[in-house]
Amino acid sequence: MEPVKRELRMYPDPQTLSAAAAEELGAFLETTASERGRCIVALAGGRTPRPVYERLAADPRIPWPQVVVFWGDERYVPPDDPRSNARMAYEALLGRVPIPPENVYPMPTRFEQPDEAARAYESVLRAAFCDPPRFDLVLLGMGADGHVASLFPGSPALLETERWVVAVRVTADPPVRLTLTLPVINRARRVDVLVTGAEKREAVRRALVEPPDPWSCPAGGVHPEGGLLVWWVDRAAAGGIPQTQRE
Ligand code: 6PG
Repeated sequence: MEPVKRELRMYPDPQTLSAAAAEELGAFLETTASERGRCIVALAGGRTPRPVYERLAADPRIPWPQVVVFWGDERYVPPDDPRSNARMAYEALLGRVPIPPENVYPMPTRFEQPDEAARAYESVLRAAFCDPPRFDLVLLGMGADGHVASLFPGSPALLETERWVVAVRVTADPPVRLTLTLPVINRARRVDVLVTGAEKREAVRRALVEPPDPWSCPAGGVHPEGGLLVWWVDRAAAGGIPQTQRE
């Protein structure tokens, strides 16, 4: 297993964390696009990334025509549903920047069967990438149960080694989702995990302090081999990290 360069960035509160993350991610997008011709990103859903997206929307450094956007997961709801990750990203970011529509690939949620949608999105990924896909950047949030993307504790999707995208049924609302699988996430050149709030303290501790157990804490299975893994954690969520590990 190739080594992972893992970094922990801690901030006093969500506001300062979002500002610092947006600053660093904006620079990464600019540099990657400049060096590689394009920057291929998988966006996270949920609440935590939104202020980061809003700041990226105002970042003049980012060459949006050279950025290609996918998603790490999506709730299986219509795109105009308030729970849609794509809707949130368009509101906070993509609808505010000059990114060509052909560079943006939302996960499809109108197929009769979610598994058909997962297979369709995998075909989109296969057309965009060589095999297997290597995102320049995968953004993730994390739930209080340690889920990342829509990979939840005890899910058979955690054992998937062939498929790049799968449909899952989860205990959260809405119950049906599409998600990238761990092998795809762990092929990324860089993965950033954004976590705030005291309710996530135990999951952060299990993901960062204990020996990783992806089955019970999927965030512990995020291990971008040969890549960079950055955890952005505010003070409330970092309470379970020993002082010695905070330097
Ligand atoms: C989703 C996300 C999910 C999210 C976590 C944390 O579709 O909900 O992809 O993995 O990142 O549930 O969500 P919050 O940022 O809202 O706490």
